[in-house]
Amino acid sequence: MILVTGGAGYIGSHTCVELLERGYEIVVMDNFSNSKPDALDKIRQITGKDFKFYEADMCDREAMDRIFAENNIDAVIHFAGYKAVGESVQKPLMYYNNNLMGTIVLCEAMKKYGCTKILFSSSATVYGNPKTVPIKEDFPLSTTNPYGTTKLFIERILEDVVVANPDWSVVLLRYFNPIGAHKSGIIGENPNGIPNNLVPYVARVACGKYEAVHVFGNDYPTPDGTGVRDYIHVVDLALGHVKAMEKAMTCTGVNVYNLGTGKGYSVLDIIKAYEKACGKEIPYVIDPRRAGDIPTCYADPAKSLEELGWKATMGIEEMCEDSWRFTVNNQD
Ligand code: UFG
Repeated sequence: MILVTGGAGYIGSHTCVELLERGYEIVVMDNFSNSKPDALDKIRQITGKDFKFYEADMCDREAMDRIFAENNIDAVIHFAGYKAVGESVQKPLMYYNNNLMGTIVLCEAMKKYGCTKILFSSSATVYGNPKTVPIKEDFPLSTTNPYGTTKLFIERILEDVVVANPDWSVVLLRYFNPIGAHKSGIIGENPNGIPNNLVPYVARVACGKYEAVHVFGNDYPTPDGTGVRDYIHVVDLALGHVKAMEKAMTCTGVNVYNLGTGKGYSVLDIIKAYEKACGKEIPYVIDPRRAGDIPTCYADPAKSLEELGWKATMGIEEMCEDSWRFTVNNQD
């Protein structure tokens, strides 16, 4: 049995689908702080499979204890956490409290119940502003905002837990920029309020909710001056978790993997690909740079291929088409 924390969220829900379709048994917990209960029914609808769900906060020790007491949990995939960069600058204590305390409460329950395997949702943000690209897993780590620091601190906490408990298996998965949606158009990313991230914002411009995309800077040292990122289809990312779970089941210690495609695309590349996917023009305006953004970030995914046998297969056209299908189906 695999416990999925944050399983109703964007990446969590897509990973639940891929796990269920491969016959894994899962139990999901979420407090819906940034997701909605209907995500759970949608996972059941896509897969035709059922699973147990706990509406619980990961910082709630009693709730966490009950989940472990009532289920025979072999491994955890730990998605739950706050993830808005800007908000983390405004509310650092809330971020440290939730993301760090939640992970500590989770690990204490794992220890108490003899569960020794955990996959953690880390982020390419832990590489800070890399000196060179593509980024390898052994590059130096640093962060520029409290959200990123929670990711880095949790990596450190889990590394220390392994030092003290050498029979544990920890897999740190550093995500690049997940976009897109499930092919069914049933689940995808639909953030509350004004989206912070590029593609959800582009999607809302494409369906007429906002007038124009605000491109944050066109004076970066990149081919067209706009920021370059490694966009990865969320289903490719979910499949990376399935492979990482197979790895965690067969080894001990800490293993770190980049989950990215190895290719970088600019903001304007994404706008163009989205225009093609939706068949409409997407207006944009050039705004000043956004504080804390870096020019270029993309992965070297060679280690993931070598050790996990995983590689992303979908390109930005497919990512934009799938995002658009989900957007059209879910215009409230
Ligand atoms: N951008 C715009 N306009 C927007 C939003 C974004 O031009 O409205 C640009 C950004 O400047 C950047 C690119 O689009 O060049 C991507 O921005 P996102 O906000 O979509 O993604 P980030 O790369 O900034 O952040 C993502 C995740 C973070 C994670 C970070 C580093 O959202 O959680 O990658 O891994 F920390």
